[in-house]
Amino acid sequence: MCGIVGYIGDKEVTSVLIEGLSRLEYRGYDSAGIAVYDNNDLHVRKFKGRLNVLADHLKEETLTGVVGIGHTRWATHGEPSDRNAHPHTNVAGNIAVIHNGIIENYMKIKEWLVEEKGIEFKSDTDTEVIAHLIDCYYEGDLLEAVYKAIRRMEGAYAIGVICKEEPDKIVAVRKDSPLIVGLGEGENFIASDIPALLKYTRKMHLIENDEVVLLTKKEVKIFNDLGQQMDREVFNVTWDAEAAEKEGYEHFMIKEIHEQPKGVSETLLRRLDKEEKVTLDGIKLTKEDLDNINKVYIVACGTAYHAGLVGRYAIEKFAKIPVEVDVASEFRYRDPFVDDKTLFIAISQSGETLDTLAALREAKRKGARVLSVVNVVGSSVARESDDVFYTWAGPEIAVASTKAYTTQLVAMYLVALHMASVKGTITEEQYKEKVNELKTMPDKIQKILDNQTKIQHLADGQFNNEKVFFMGRGLDVHVAHEGSLKLKEISYINSFAIAAGELKHGTIALIEDGTLVVALATQDHLYDKMLSNIQEVRARGAFVVGVAKEGNKEIEKTADVVLYIPDTLDQLTPILSVIPLQLLSYYIAVARGCDVDKPKNLAKSVTVE
Ligand code: M6R
Repeated sequence: MCGIVGYIGDKEVTSVLIEGLSRLEYRGYDSAGIAVYDNNDLHVRKFKGRLNVLADHLKEETLTGVVGIGHTRWATHGEPSDRNAHPHTNVAGNIAVIHNGIIENYMKIKEWLVEEKGIEFKSDTDTEVIAHLIDCYYEGDLLEAVYKAIRRMEGAYAIGVICKEEPDKIVAVRKDSPLIVGLGEGENFIASDIPALLKYTRKMHLIENDEVVLLTKKEVKIFNDLGQQMDREVFNVTWDAEAAEKEGYEHFMIKEIHEQPKGVSETLLRRLDKEEKVTLDGIKLTKEDLDNINKVYIVACGTAYHAGLVGRYAIEKFAKIPVEVDVASEFRYRDPFVDDKTLFIAISQSGETLDTLAALREAKRKGARVLSVVNVVGSSVARESDDVFYTWAGPEIAVASTKAYTTQLVAMYLVALHMASVKGTITEEQYKEKVNELKTMPDKIQKILDNQTKIQHLADGQFNNEKVFFMGRGLDVHVAHEGSLKLKEISYINSFAIAAGELKHGTIALIEDGTLVVALATQDHLYDKMLSNIQEVRARGAFVVGVAKEGNKEIEKTADVVLYIPDTLDQLTPILSVIPLQLLSYYIAVARGCDVDKPKNLAKSVTVE
């Protein structure tokens, strides 16, 4: 989604803005622009395309200001183009605005601006109304004009505003779209995401919903929606900027695939005490709390939703509480049955996914206790939850989620085991067996990664397929869905996931000579059934890649190629079986020449509906 950066201080502003925006490129965008105050005027430069189009243009001229705002746009209202790129200005060009999110009532405001004020619009965006609205209310005080403007705006937004008449300040607002402030010595920053500012500062203020910020080079003032000044602690970012670099890998995605042993180990070992008991510091659920809960909802989007499906299995199996799993965009609008006996679990890598956040708020409103599994410390989902379990995956930059997924799986197993242990629904022996097996996961993932050459060769032979099916039974179906999502989002191949038992109810009609079918067969009690399903698709000409546990060699008689994962408990296979699927998707996308880290039409953090 869009990225925001703003700077006020003594440094040459264009390079700070370009540097900051380059750190946000991973979010996905289609145009980029800046507005800077220089030589007693505001100068706006904005272009369709990658950030380097803007950067190259700036090399040819000298803009030497010390205050400015910059933006990478992911088109929602209006096609990607120079004129729709941000910043947007008022008619006189003395107020410039950058904006993430959507102004839902922009048509109504636009009509008013056109009919009552005679304003001619220069773009097709919703954002442009903000610049004109602020202009309408401007009487020499930018902060006051912004307040008046936002009172008329509905929707989700983070905005940054500068004004030619008050070049010593930036005003920013957050409503349902992430915004942080970076604190420097004699300089201050705004951004939509922490990596944008790490080169300059590790001291941040996390801005809350409905807050308005006034920045000068010397100070930062935060106000609530009533205009009252708020105190805010300094948030120190502890992770390294280097963690967000490629470190010699060709893409972030393959780097992040290889970081999974470390991420899984961190997520796990930080939660095991000396007695190897799971201690979840951020989770304060007591036995009494858990006894009061009669239903769990797990809600998330995309890959995080797939982790939720495995989480349902683990909680029902170990803690014996009924669980429903839902995608956030459906949950929030279907008036789900939630009350104070419901535990709502939100799963989100970014912690900023708008649908997940809205679903969380809906569940809270109805009285549910909210637990979140989140990767980004201090993110909105984390801050609005009663209990938080941080996955320790480190920053995930590639749009396709990999290490976030495996660490979310570990988190869900630990949450389930913790609940089971507190409720007493699992024996000490069973508990130990699972914890001990979880501890072997980092080495087992590493073993799969060490043998990836076979998968590379397979990808070289299969990258031309335009249709791929993933199938499995039991827990394998959930991994099939994740494998299919991974492949389609980065390679643009039409891929589908199906419960293998459903084949004969329709989908088998699509199998023809050469169709690639990835068949997961890791569940011992369903192994023979899967072998039959493999026979069925092979009989129709499919080329079958099986995924099975080491030692289960029978599958070699039916599948064309078999990718083995190290032996483990059936209940834990998803942590391993997804790894070959991630690698296969990655190498297929590379062979097809796709932009693996930034697939078309996608954004890393989906902060609009
Ligand atoms: O940040 P979140 O975990 O809330 O994001 C959820 C989805 O947008 C995300 O998992 C998406 O599906 C990924 N592109 C999948 O690789």
